[in-house]
Amino acid sequence: MGLHVGIIMDGNGRWAQARGLMRTQGHREGLQAAKQIVKAASGMGIDFLTLYVFSTENWKRTVEEVGFIMDLVRQYLKAEFSFCRENHIRVRHAGDLSKLPPDVAKDIAEVCKDTEMFAGMQVILALNYGGRDEIVRAVNKALAGIAGASSASGRAIEINENVITKHLDNPDVPDPDLIIRTAGEYRTSNFLLWESAYAEYYISDKLWPDWTSADLAEAVESFQKRERRFGAVNSAIDEAGAPL
Ligand code: IPE
Ligand code: IPE
Ligand code: MG
Repeated sequence: MGLHVGIIMDGNGRWAQARGLMRTQGHREGLQAAKQIVKAASGMGIDFLTLYVFSTENWKRTVEEVGFIMDLVRQYLKAEFSFCRENHIRVRHAGDLSKLPPDVAKDIAEVCKDTEMFAGMQVILALNYGGRDEIVRAVNKALAGIAGASSASGRAIEINENVITKHLDNPDVPDPDLIIRTAGEYRTSNFLLWESAYAEYYISDKLWPDWTSADLAEAVESFQKRERRFGAVNSAIDEAGAPL
């Protein structure tokens, strides 16, 4: 199976400010970078690409900025269908659709449905996404199921990790292998909290609008050199008893 890469696309505002432009211009450029990265990713062994487009906390920004980002999303969703068809890209969504402007929610649901049969790379748009929010929604979905099941069977049913995983937004998508954050910030900002338990992190100082396919290739190359242990002892060095 190919890789699942998640990207916290940060730095649009700083990119614009550095040029004396409005923050919104940074988002416009950021969209261009995102398009390029999607194009490049499928050729790099990436089967799943999760893009952090808009967080549950980003509503705290001005009405103008939020409105501009939603407009970009509307345009992007309408314009990219033929690209998805040509490249067999399946688009999916993570986050709470119910709190998005109704037309945006409808467009997202439509593009997810229209690309459902494409068997190439999956691009997961994290839009109105928060890791905590996803976990809370998953637990509530699980509880609703459990209430029914336990009253039918007369037994109490417990929540465990599998139950939560099964009720996440995209339960069949494997956990991310690599999470990239641009613009030099060392934090998750509520991205894929549950799923990233064993993800490798890669922080790039470059601002998102400056990102190119070469930067993605470098990040993937760096990831491939890492040793992932998942809590176990699995290298020849460890087994030989060398000090860690
Ligand atoms: C990331 O860029 C895009 C979104 C969060 C929507 P920012 O807008 O956060 O850019 P900076 O961090 O202010 O530079
Ligand atoms: C994270 O970036 C969200 C997205 C990239 C969509 P933010 O810019 O919102 O994160 P903070 O506020 O710096 O933590
Ligand atoms: Mg930011």
